[in-house]
Amino acid sequence: MIVTTAQLFKHAYGKYAVGAYNINNAEQAMGLFKGCISSKAPFIIQISKGARSYTDKRMLEAVIRAAAEIFPEAIFAVHLDHGDEATCYDCINSGFFSSVMIDASHDPFEKNVEITKRVVTAAHAKGISVEAELGMLGGVEEDIKVEEGNACLTDPDEAQDFVKQTGCDSLACAIGTSHGAFKFKGKQSLHFDVLDKIKAKLPGFPLVMHGSSSVPQDEVARINAAGGKIAGSMGVDVNEYLPAAKRGVTKVNIDTDGRLVWTRVHREFFRDKPSEFDFRPPGKIFIEEYAKFIASRNVLLGSANQLDSLHQSLGK
Ligand code: G3H
Ligand code: 13P
Ligand code: ZN
Repeated sequence: MIVTTAQLFKHAYGKYAVGAYNINNAEQAMGLFKGCISSKAPFIIQISKGARSYTDKRMLEAVIRAAAEIFPEAIFAVHLDHGDEATCYDCINSGFFSSVMIDASHDPFEKNVEITKRVVTAAHAKGISVEAELGMLGGVEEDIKVEEGNACLTDPDEAQDFVKQTGCDSLACAIGTSHGAFKFKGKQSLHFDVLDKIKAKLPGFPLVMHGSSSVPQDEVARINAAGGKIAGSMGVDVNEYLPAAKRGVTKVNIDTDGRLVWTRVHREFFRDKPSEFDFRPPGKIFIEEYAKFIASRNVLLGSANQLDSLHQSLGK
């Protein structure tokens, strides 16, 4: 069942975070649904602009609709990840998305407010939730690369003002993470001090953490042992997910880690079976490994075993 992110956040706030996982194809969709059903967790499917154009946006939509039929007990939101204004309107009008992210965080504050307000008006007219972003993460997202020095943490006073002016339903905050596999130079913690201040200014308001992949070092080691060259990678400490959730983070975005699972499975498969050229055997392994990964993340986020209670609170 497709619900809005606002409905998911109402149930999760202050207790757990909902995993928001990017998908691009049928194998990822199968792994995601399997992992969320086995761990009894609600979830958010994230679709980026790049994912929509990878095959065809209608293809991805059909895959998700089919998965929802195969797993009727699933409760999830379909969310546009890092949308520009035009893509937001396309998704709002699609009749399929239940949530969009307008990312005008690279624009000055006033322009970000202006654009976000327009998207909120259009989305709310159709009962769709809106995530906006304030502050700037480092790393690469879509076609925009933010150098580490230009990344800036979200200002709590600005966050309060921004939410009041825009009427958005959730806010992506920069609290020290970045996109991709190379987040930190050394061991680094999330900026819980900043998060506490944002929560104090916006009590009860759902916050979002982008760039939340943990970049498991054993996964990277296996990729490199099978011919990969991923050096100096570093991710978020998974033990910081729940403390963040207790401070109002209701959505935790994870994409890179799923790509690492895919890379490890396929590199190892073709290393060990160099004469193989049927893509289905490694595809099947990937689905199972991705499902296991998703279930493990849902446990760490505290969203595992929340499905029954959510079903009850939604009255379905
Ligand atoms: O933050 C970006 C997400 O990881 C999506 O990546 O734009 O390459 O699909 P993508
Ligand atoms: P990662 O690159 O850490 O997986 O972050 C994904 C993300 O924030 C998608 O919006
Ligand atoms: Zn992101």
